Amino acid sequence: MATKDKLVIFDTTLRDGEQSPGASMSKDEKLRIAKLLEKMHVDVIEAGFAVSSQGDFDAVKLIADTVQDSRICSLSRAMTADIERAGEALKGASAGRIHTFIATSPIHMKYKLQMEPDDVLAQAIGAVKTARDLIDDVEFSLEDASRTDFEFMCRITEAVIKAGAKTINFPDTVGYSAPGEYGAIIHRLLNTVPNADQAIFSVHCHNDLGLAVANSLAAVQNGARQVECTINGLGERAGNASLEELVMAIRTRKDLYPVETGVDHSHIVPISRLVSSITGFPVQPNKAIVGANAFAHESGIHQDGILKMRETYEIMKAEDVGWTTNKLSLGKLSGRAAFAARLEDLDISFNSKEDFNQAFRRFKDLADKKREIFDEDLQALVSDVQMGTEEDALLLVDLEVLSKSGQLPHAKIVIRYQGQDHEVESTGDGAVDAIFNAIEKLIKSETELQVYSVNAVTQGTDSQGEVTVRLAKDGRIINGQGADTDILFASAKAYLHALTLIRNPGRLHPQLGGV
Ligand code: KIV
Ligand code: ZN
Repeated sequence: MATKDKLVIFDTTLRDGEQSPGASMSKDEKLRIAKLLEKMHVDVIEAGFAVSSQGDFDAVKLIADTVQDSRICSLSRAMTADIERAGEALKGASAGRIHTFIATSPIHMKYKLQMEPDDVLAQAIGAVKTARDLIDDVEFSLEDASRTDFEFMCRITEAVIKAGAKTINFPDTVGYSAPGEYGAIIHRLLNTVPNADQAIFSVHCHNDLGLAVANSLAAVQNGARQVECTINGLGERAGNASLEELVMAIRTRKDLYPVETGVDHSHIVPISRLVSSITGFPVQPNKAIVGANAFAHESGIHQDGILKMRETYEIMKAEDVGWTTNKLSLGKLSGRAAFAARLEDLDISFNSKEDFNQAFRRFKDLADKKREIFDEDLQALVSDVQMGTEEDALLLVDLEVLSKSGQLPHAKIVIRYQGQDHEVESTGDGAVDAIFNAIEKLIKSETELQVYSVNAVTQGTDSQGEVTVRLAKDGRIINGQGADTDILFASAKAYLHALTLIRNPGRLHPQLGGV
C-alpha cells in the first residue's frame, strides 16, 4: 500500500478564533488551550497577532516559551514593525513560525490597501525576506486568494517562495468559494507555479456559506498539505473550518483522502468543551462530532439497529473523540488524588499549584451542596476558578438578594478588586437586574448588556447554572461566564468576569485598515 502524505494541522483558534466578536481570551486561558492542542499533537498553533496589543504579545510569548512539541506561530501584516514584534514574541520557541500576509484580490488592493499590484508584490517579497532574517520558518498568505486573479496569484507565489517562504496559504477569506472551484484553483496553482515543489500549499477557509470544511477537503484532494482550522469552527463571522470535522473526516474516509494527520482525536471533546467554556460560545447540540446529540440515537429504529450492529448507523465511535460513557465523576468523599486523577482524564490542567488547591476547595464546597458531581460540573468549576485568577479580576466575595412579592428586589454585593473589598447595594426590576445595578453603581462601566443567558450544566434542579453575559462598549464585544448552583451567584460572577475583560485594552484587527 502506498504511504500517505502528512497533512499539517494548523490551529488558529487562538488567533482567527479570537477574532469572533466576544471571544477574547486572557493569556492564561490561551495557554490552557495551547497545552491541550500540544497534547493532541497539533502541528502548528497560531497563538495570536503579536503586534495587536501588549496582551496578545504576552500570550504569544508565554505559549512560545512553554509549549515544546508544537510549532508556535504569530500572525503579522507584511510590515517590518509587525514582523519584528512577531519575531520578538517567538524568540523562546523550540520551533517558531512567522505568518505574514497581504491582500491580493483586486477589490482588496484597490479599496482597502489602495495599492497597485506591483507594489503589493514588492511588499510581499520584502516581508518574507525580513521574516526570514529573523526565523527559519515563514508562511505567506495571499489574503482573499479565492477572489484573486490567477496569473497574479502565480506571480506572487513564485516570488515569495524564492524569497524564502516555506508555506504558502491561499485563504478563502470571505467564505465565497465552492468545493469544485477551490479544489481546481489549488490543482492549477500546483501545476503552474514553477517552484511549487519547494513549499507546502495551505488552505484557510471561512464558513460564510457553510462550506469551510468541504472546501478544505476539496483542496486536500487536489494537493494542499496544510489546513488551517479552529476548535468548534470558531472564527471571524461564521467561523473557520472546524478542526474536529476535518480530522475525523480524514480518519473516517481513509479511502477518499490521500493524507493522514498526527492528531490524537481522543482529546477532541475535552478541548471543544474547554474552548466553549472559556469563550462563552456554546456548541449547538447537532454540531458534528462535538454536539451533545452527535452520537445520540432517539428513534426506535436507529436504536434497534445500533444494538444489533453498531455500524448500521454509526460511522465513528463516540469514545474515539473523547465522549466518556460514565459521566458520574466524583462525590463528597472523593479526596485530592481522585480529584486530580479525574481532572487528568478530562484533560484539565492548571497553570499553578495554588489554582489546583483553590479548585479542590471549590469542589469540596460544591460536593456539600450537590450529591453527585459530573464531569460537566468539574469543567464549569475549573473554568470559574481560573477566571478568578486573572490579573486585576473583579471578584465576587459576598451576595445577598431579597426578592419578595410586591417589593422591588434588592441586592447587596461585596466585590474584591486589587485586594480591597467594596460593598454596594441597589434595587432592580428583577433579582438579576438588582445585582447588575449594584455592580454598576461601583464600576460605572458604561457598557451595553447585549446578551444574558443561563444554561444548566447537568440535569436536575441541583444542577449548576452557567451564565453568559455579553457586554459591548465602543464597538468592542466581550463575553463573561460564571457558574454556580445558585444562578444569582453565577450571574454576578459572569457580569464581573465580562467587566474584568472589557477593562483590558482592545486589540488591533489584522485585516482592517491599510498596510
Ligand atoms: O481569512 C484570512 O484571510 C486570514 C488571513 C490573515 C490568513 O485570516
Ligand atoms: Zn481567516
